[in-house]
Amino acid sequence: MNKILAFETSCDDTSVAVIDTDYHVYVNLISSQVTHADFGGVVPELASRLHLKNIMQLTKAAMDKAQLSFDDIDAIAVSVNPGLIGALLVGVSFAKSLAYSLDKPLIAVNHMLGHIYANRLSHPEMMPPYLALVVSGGHTELVHFKGNEDFDIAGRTRDDAAGEAFDKVAKLLGLGYPGGPLVDRIAKGGDSHFVEFPRALNRKGNFDFSFSGFKTSVRNYLAKQNSAFIEAHLPDITASVQKAIVDSLVSKTIAYARMIEIDTIIVAGGVSANSCLRSEMTSRAKRLGIEVFFPEMQYCMDNAAMIGAAAVDKWHRKKFAPLDLNAFSTKGVRRI
Ligand code: KG4
Ligand code: ZN
Repeated sequence: MNKILAFETSCDDTSVAVIDTDYHVYVNLISSQVTHADFGGVVPELASRLHLKNIMQLTKAAMDKAQLSFDDIDAIAVSVNPGLIGALLVGVSFAKSLAYSLDKPLIAVNHMLGHIYANRLSHPEMMPPYLALVVSGGHTELVHFKGNEDFDIAGRTRDDAAGEAFDKVAKLLGLGYPGGPLVDRIAKGGDSHFVEFPRALNRKGNFDFSFSGFKTSVRNYLAKQNSAFIEAHLPDITASVQKAIVDSLVSKTIAYARMIEIDTIIVAGGVSANSCLRSEMTSRAKRLGIEVFFPEMQYCMDNAAMIGAAAVDKWHRKKFAPLDLNAFSTKGVRRI
């Protein structure tokens, strides 16, 4: 069994993990950069600087916690895209330096594929074909995997990502950042039919997503209410917001799964932590005999264990990256 030291620095979480090729996680440390909350969103330059400040100490702490030395490590994995370019470059440069100085192979990982492979950490048996719904702060994609490296993008967002929709609506409601977990928490016990917000691109056969019109309709709705009403009905309004986003995600995913007659759906990315998405997707899929996988809660948000998990297949195929590897910000699930 071999061990992979993995790094994730694509956005505002610095994370270092060690996992083995049987998907056992020895350590997965995440240093979340709370500074960004003061700005209502991630400030790229601050993110890069904080990754730089954290990465060395976090690596030492991870190795200590796992009670491992660098001699025990067989490969170094790192997320190279998509993400904030300055932030990615910190992880990539650090991983390359380690790979060079320790003379270990380097494995480049697409961050979105990492989110999908987060599911392997609890379900190592999970193999294609499956339909993956990838929903994070920057991406919303429906991806049909026929093989580990053989996939088609079935649909994607035309504007805002699902996580972004949660974050922007939370901002309109003055809840704070990141908004998704806050909306999820406040919506508990609320009436999800209190306001019927629009579901975009509802036509049959359209598998793209759109959330910007929805966001505008929430803004218009809030502008017509007084603040006492909004405060009194915060659980109902957030539950209605959450239901609208979740309905779009679930109905398109289920419709596509039925169209291609696939019996496994994988949900991945930060929004996969959403309680309403988890219950709605599971219950609707179950009625059709479709199995649904979600990552464990600790692996939903950005973390390095999922980057290590996505590196395992590449380790087995000896698909290593050269030391002139570069980071790139390009969007979405990509073959690299
Ligand atoms: O995957 P992720 O950690 O970072 C990116 O790659 O973007 O996703 C972060 C996103 C944020 O937009 C956050 O609001 C959303 O995931 N999120 C949630 C929940 N937890 C995180 N959205 C809805 N409900 C949640 N429980
Ligand atoms: Zn992510």
